[in-house]
Amino acid sequence: MPKRIIIDTDPGIDDALAFLLALASPEIKLEALTTTQGNVTLETATRNALAILELAQAGGVPVVAGSVVPLVQPLRASAHVHGQSGVGNAKLPDPKNKPVEQHAVDYLIERVLAEPNELSIFPIGPLTNIAMAIRKEPKLAKAVKELVIMGGAVLEHGNVTPQAEFNIYVDPHAAHIVFHSGIPITLIPLDVTHKCLLKPIHINRLLQVNSPITRFIKSAVETCFAHSKSYGGEGCAMHDPLTLATVIAPELLTLKELYVEVDHSSGVSMGKTFGDFLGTTNKPANMKVALQVRGDEFIEVFIQRMESLAKSIPE
Ligand code: RIB
Ligand code: CA
Repeated sequence: MPKRIIIDTDPGIDDALAFLLALASPEIKLEALTTTQGNVTLETATRNALAILELAQAGGVPVVAGSVVPLVQPLRASAHVHGQSGVGNAKLPDPKNKPVEQHAVDYLIERVLAEPNELSIFPIGPLTNIAMAIRKEPKLAKAVKELVIMGGAVLEHGNVTPQAEFNIYVDPHAAHIVFHSGIPITLIPLDVTHKCLLKPIHINRLLQVNSPITRFIKSAVETCFAHSKSYGGEGCAMHDPLTLATVIAPELLTLKELYVEVDHSSGVSMGKTFGDFLGTTNKPANMKVALQVRGDEFIEVFIQRMESLAKSIPE
């Protein structure tokens, strides 16, 4: 039986690649996309989600708009990484479909309570929607199957400050609520996503398949390559797609049960995720954290699935 997932997202270049990977994976049934601010504004995130699904001929997947701003912090977006459009240099036609007429928080509560322990949520943007749903409906925490979260930097440096990873930094208060909700959590932090790099050589291979999918990927990651080069990087980190490895290639990840806190103060380490490796807090683990990955093997899985998706959607 495929794992039924809702992706909560701020598309975003790597978010878009995660949608495509989910759609290309028979182990997954993509139930819906709920959108949030983060890489881009909520409006742009929602438009991009609709447009990317239509590009992949998956326009039947519901898109539901959520939080406009973080719980406490001001809105921020990372146009320098994802471009003003949120999808790099890719040009997506205006979507034909409209989002569901419901707030994502209410949609998540309704869907999860209707089918307890059936739906997994994959937050790959700031955790604002998830935190609001937990606060609005306390029953949610017992009914959602699991959260598989792209976020945090445990032993790795941050990517938005020296300490903090972007998704957690944008809404550290939401992360604090989610991390202490009691929901089963798997965290996919920068510690592993920085080891999963899509490189120009992979794009050259993908372009052997003539498809709007491969051309979209090429145009979308150009901005990410340029940003990566600016700090001496060598490729586009597959942050969001790597969350799906927990379903399609779990053997590539090494997970550790860990108690993790997040700094939601307003100091220099705001958004930092701390792992209690030495048990100094005497608190039980609140999540499984991916600390190692066979990154090159994950990229190979990603490329092969993109090739087959692209072949199914020829020009
Ligand atoms: O830090 C990486 C995360 O921030 C990814 O989810 C990316 O899309 C951005 O949202
Ligand atoms: Ca994201």
